[in-house]
Amino acid sequence: MTLKLIVSKDLPTDLDQIRLPKHVAIIMDGNGRWAKLRGLPRMMGHQRGVDTLKDLLRCCRDWRIPALTAYAFSTENWGRPLEEVKFLMTLFERVLRRELREMMEENVRISFVGNLEVLPPSLQLEINRSMNDTQDNTGIQFTVATNYGGRQEIIQACQTIAIQVQKGLLTPEEINESLFERYLYTSGITHPDLLIRTSGEMRISNFLLWQLAYAEIYVTQTLWPDFNREEFYKALLAYQQRERRFGKV
Ligand code: FPP
Repeated sequence: MTLKLIVSKDLPTDLDQIRLPKHVAIIMDGNGRWAKLRGLPRMMGHQRGVDTLKDLLRCCRDWRIPALTAYAFSTENWGRPLEEVKFLMTLFERVLRRELREMMEENVRISFVGNLEVLPPSLQLEINRSMNDTQDNTGIQFTVATNYGGRQEIIQACQTIAIQVQKGLLTPEEINESLFERYLYTSGITHPDLLIRTSGEMRISNFLLWQLAYAEIYVTQTLWPDFNREEFYKALLAYQQRERRFGKV
């Protein structure tokens, strides 16, 4: 496969359009290491990571992958140095403000999952604006996990369901998988078929614990800012070589 093809908008010829994942989830790891390797502050890695994400979103659109979910900030990330947390919050806000027009032009529907209520109010404003403005767009479904934790998501679903039972609006017998899913942040979004994690760690790190139950996992040593179309192509090729059995023989 030549680089020329990977850079082009066309799906590389050795990928089968029919068997592409319908939803790709990504853990964008390695921004700090990318920056350190170049003698730059960690923040530059995050900044470059935004460009990578933007290009991946465009690539999904070009190759007709209908949904992308990115892990931008976990509930554990509050434990980072205050300066870095502040930088990330400001970066998210700035990027949302800057990119909204383009998302509208490119028909992107953006949504956020996570405990958004504790985010800085000015960021919440941009989040709500971008979700409202793009809600009727019919192109790629782009979900950003922000202050997201899989365990916390499951607990909040349990609490809401428990309250419904307490009020007599639900019976315990009515609780099944499809009902439970309606109480998750991702209600209405298909489960990811493929999880990509950059920079080599073999962990899920509290990301979409329920939703990733049958996802194929692809880990690359490539650091997130270097994850380009060619890397994505490699991940998709590996995905298409897997046999998905969903617990059957
Ligand atoms: C992990 O790298 C990366 C993050 C915690 C932040 C990712 C966020 C972005 C790329 C920005 C996305 C922006 C929007 C608006 C969705 P790391 O810092 O853990 O890297 P390291 O493991 O090398 O230290």
